Amino acid sequence: DWTTGNVIDEQVDAIRELVGDKRAICGLSGGVDSAVAAALVQKAIGSQLTCVYVDHGLMRKGETEQVEKDFVAATGVQLKVVDAQERFLTALKGVSDPEEKRKIIGREFIRVFEQAQAEIIADEGPAVEFLVQGTLYPDVVESGGGTGTANIKSHHNVGGLPEDLEFKLIEPLRKLFKDEVRMVGQELGLPEEIVQRQPFPGPGLGIRIVGEVTKERLDLLREADAIAREELTAAGLDRDIWQCPVVLLADVRSVGVQGDGRTYGHPIVLRPVSSEDAMTADWSRLPYDVLAKISTRITNEVRDVNRVVLDVTSKPPGTIEWE
Ligand code: XMP
Repeated sequence: DWTTGNVIDEQVDAIRELVGDKRAICGLSGGVDSAVAAALVQKAIGSQLTCVYVDHGLMRKGETEQVEKDFVAATGVQLKVVDAQERFLTALKGVSDPEEKRKIIGREFIRVFEQAQAEIIADEGPAVEFLVQGTLYPDVVESGGGTGTANIKSHHNVGGLPEDLEFKLIEPLRKLFKDEVRMVGQELGLPEEIVQRQPFPGPGLGIRIVGEVTKERLDLLREADAIAREELTAAGLDRDIWQCPVVLLADVRSVGVQGDGRTYGHPIVLRPVSSEDAMTADWSRLPYDVLAKISTRITNEVRDVNRVVLDVTSKPPGTIEWE
């Protein structure tokens, strides 16, 4: 019968047998799925696994450290961190269009990731034959796939790697739903902040700045977002909320008054939503005192922000993200 212990034992055996004395690589995004998949494979093959984490500078406060320190401490995994912040900022310079941002972030991400893969492959050591992915059951069903244990299929890479290189995929979460993945992660000893993490978009804060993405704006949004998360957590609301994008309207300015003078700053939008699957969502009816606390703290503590507004739009017609 189904227990997280059984799932882990079964996968560990299967992965060991499959990988033998070869090596595997895994990309970490900071999200739950890739973290649990990596932890499971690490348990099976230890130092034959190398993880890659691309720091694109669009993460929230503390998230890179969570991967670099807490995840490594909990798993002992071998991790290669690529600091690509400058590269992403340069690529995003002057770009305001959301789809353009997504395209650029996606493209740069693949380039940096494949470069890191190529470096690992060029290391001395056994051949890197496997790529670990955190595919879940709903993803499998959506793409009409089957249900192998450590299912193997070919995966061709583009750019940065030898053209004929073909990874075999290890997808140890293929039979699991999200809540089961969280349980497995917990059983594997992963930090609560990673296991219970709310959804966060791949392009990160890049699509939460309405307007051009700059270092200054990212830092400002990171502060505001950290305050909102801190207060929502303190109020015990994390499980009630599906996610709460915090958005910087960088191209909008409004007049305010603070201390002894007039300000001309930017608004921050709070977008707390409840949802089952992100396909539809409703705006969360957060307690006024929590909203008040967040608003006071953000306007007091974050430079250049003089207004906090609440998004009260459902999806549809609004999307969860602003971009
Ligand atoms: P929307 O804004 O479309 O978001 O209602 C639905 C869910 O998807 C996330 N999201 C993304 N995730 N890359 C991602 O990995 C993206 O470009 C992206 N855009 C939106 C969003 O956070 C929400 O959970």
